[in-house]
Amino acid sequence: MQKFTFDKITNHLTTSGFVYPGSDIYGGLANSWDFGPLGTLLKNHIKTAFRDHFVRKNKNIVEIEPAIIMNTKVWETTGHVSNFHDPLIDCKNCHSRFRADELINSKDKDICCDGKSNEELSELIKTLDIACPECGKKDFTSIRQFQMMFKTFMGVTEEKSNIVYLRPETAQGIFVNFKNVMRSQRMKLPFGICDIGKAFRNEITPGNYIFRTREFEQMEIEFFYSPKDSFNYFNFFKEDCLKFLDELGLKKENLRYRDHAKEELAFYSEATTDIEYLYPFGWGELMGIASRTDYDLSRHGESSKEDLKYLDQETNEKFYPYVIEPSFGVERLMLAILCDSYDEEQLENDTRIVMHLNPKLAPYQVAVLPLSKQLAEEGEEVLSIINRRFDSVYDVTGSIGKRYRREDAIGTPFCVTIDFDTKEDKCVTVRERDSMKQERVKISSLCEYIQNKIESME
Ligand code: GAP
Repeated sequence: MQKFTFDKITNHLTTSGFVYPGSDIYGGLANSWDFGPLGTLLKNHIKTAFRDHFVRKNKNIVEIEPAIIMNTKVWETTGHVSNFHDPLIDCKNCHSRFRADELINSKDKDICCDGKSNEELSELIKTLDIACPECGKKDFTSIRQFQMMFKTFMGVTEEKSNIVYLRPETAQGIFVNFKNVMRSQRMKLPFGICDIGKAFRNEITPGNYIFRTREFEQMEIEFFYSPKDSFNYFNFFKEDCLKFLDELGLKKENLRYRDHAKEELAFYSEATTDIEYLYPFGWGELMGIASRTDYDLSRHGESSKEDLKYLDQETNEKFYPYVIEPSFGVERLMLAILCDSYDEEQLENDTRIVMHLNPKLAPYQVAVLPLSKQLAEEGEEVLSIINRRFDSVYDVTGSIGKRYRREDAIGTPFCVTIDFDTKEDKCVTVRERDSMKQERVKISSLCEYIQNKIESME
């Protein structure tokens, strides 16, 4: 069980500027969220940490940025146009709408609904005697398959031939660029291609704040290797993804693997494992690692008539490489990080909200706080030194105690206070968020001091 309720954490995130309700001044748009200044910085830091871990430190993984709108043939080839559906069911009494598989799994989580027909799912709902979670009646419509890709038109007329889709995953931009990247960058197997960007799914049951939304960001890698290579890349990425989450500071006890059962696997997949996080509403999928064999490349090769095979120059063999795919949702990772770091600490005369964020993820690494408005000149000078190296914020309003609390509540690891001695001794006081300890530091060595502290906290 998590220590704090989801409502408490999400209220804090909204009021402090991490996440705002989307289109708020017009009454909002259901389940759409905007990221405020703090959320935007945090998301950027998450993406930087991902790039550092998986791309920058790997000489054989490169990043690309494919378009969001792609040729419709891409989605016909992958099967998304015909198969990317969710089973939709309505309560005839109160008109609430549900995903049939979710209704079934709320009664029996071990039933695998993947691959079952509408009739089989309807039968299960009857057999399990499932009632509408909203009104308690047992009178449902028949099940319809609901296309989850957002459709729009490219060009001036809204004709069938002009239909295009917003991508439901970033992965396909990688597969269709496999040959371009391999040739232009002279890549040799094994190698990986990463894509970070927006994906869109017309989810029937979005919810749990930013956990399941219709517009979200993914960080995906397709790692290509020869099927004859005996190294176990699937296990390697399983371990490496968990290591990445551990490095970000997520508590070990809140993370677990969930291997997909055979019946759950997509027909082209050899194995899939999710890493789940214990969100305040229960365990939920944070990311997944899938072994996709040569399914995508061979489908695109056959459909486009382009040669997407790899030529092994030593053996002269041509083949479709196999693929391991680690796939993270940025917002799900962000939500896990925020829930994991939220704390309320009882002090002698006070309670403080504190977010124990890893310093490299915190929206601001440093807050510059002149004790008085009369110290603005010194304050701005210190800020100009700090903000060349760190994300920083400047605050002169309110008592210093209140300002410390504000920074604790958004996870700023260091507060730098400028006082009336600063002019004379060229020193500032640095206060640490977690220990609340203070130390006098020379302005000339401030950046180095903070950098060393950050490194020792990682
Ligand atoms: N290319 C594989 C793929 O897209 P997925 O399990 O459908 O696999 C991967 O999605 C990750 O994307 C999930 O583990 C999750 O983190 C994120 N994700 C998927 N749907 C989402 C949604 N509706 N809202 C937020 N994140 C989502």
